[in-house]
Amino acid sequence: MRAQNLISALFLIFIVFGSSAMGKGPVRGRRPCRSLVFYFHDIIYNGKNSKNATAAIVGAPAWGNKTILGGKNHFGDLVVFDDPITLDNNLHSTPVGRAQGFYIYDKKDVFTAWLGFSFVFNSTEHKGSINFAGADPLMNKTRDISVVGGTGDFFMARGIATLTTDAFEGEVYFRLCVDIKLYECW
Ligand SMILES: *[C@@H]1O[C@H](CO)[C@@H](O)[C@H](O)[C@H]1NC(C)=O
Ligand SMILES: *[C@@H]1O[C@H](CO)[C@@H](O)[C@H](O)[C@H]1NC(C)=O
Ligand SMILES: *[C@@H]1O[C@H](CO)[C@@H](O)[C@H](O)[C@H]1NC(C)=O
Ligand SMILES: *[C@@H]1O[C@H](CO)[C@@H](O)[C@H](O)[C@H]1NC(C)=O
Repeated sequence: MRAQNLISALFLIFIVFGSSAMGKGPVRGRRPCRSLVFYFHDIIYNGKNSKNATAAIVGAPAWGNKTILGGKNHFGDLVVFDDPITLDNNLHSTPVGRAQGFYIYDKKDVFTAWLGFSFVFNSTEHKGSINFAGADPLMNKTRDISVVGGTGDFFMARGIATLTTDAFEGEVYFRLCVDIKLYECW
């Protein structure tokens, strides 16, 4: 009987401490295992720059069109991009990869977007991809989006990417600084 009680008590303690440690306490270190900084450059087609454009509006709501981002904070516009990635903030630096994916403007009363894209690398420095997804409230100085995975040199990567709008020119060009902190590295 006593032994059984002791076992039950130990089991209870294990459950209480075990679950509180899993629920609240830091399960693992909150320090990144890898940090990387890149820039990417988005030149949006505007009817005149087909030679230089790296992004195109592919969907627009009924009140808009696919040449110029529409009113209501571009709500409903869907843009697909294949942008050069550089190590510094110069558009003309040699690209180290491509940022490929899309963004959707998804709020009528403020500029905000949803981003889904990959960094695709095929250089001596990096081979593989890093995949990003998340809300981009782009009026904020910095925004965090999720690094949801990776391949190659970034196999199984997970973490957070902090985006900063480094520059923009009207509705035609913007440059984002992407500060990647990986919390899972293999
Ligand atoms: C296209 O790029 C070239 C050189 O990269 C630049 O000189 C030119 O001004 C750009 N044209 C447009 C329409 O942005
Ligand atoms: C597209 O929409 C923009 C602004 O919403 C407008 O200025 C432009 O004239 C439209 N272009 C066409 C071809 O309808
Ligand atoms: C990566 O680059 C190499 C060498 O330039 C090329 O042979 C290969 O096809 C490229 N791979 C991809 C996926 O682009
Ligand atoms: C964006 O900025 C606003 C106002 O500065 C703030 O209230 C909001 O929490 C920020 N959102 C994010 C996702 O950082």
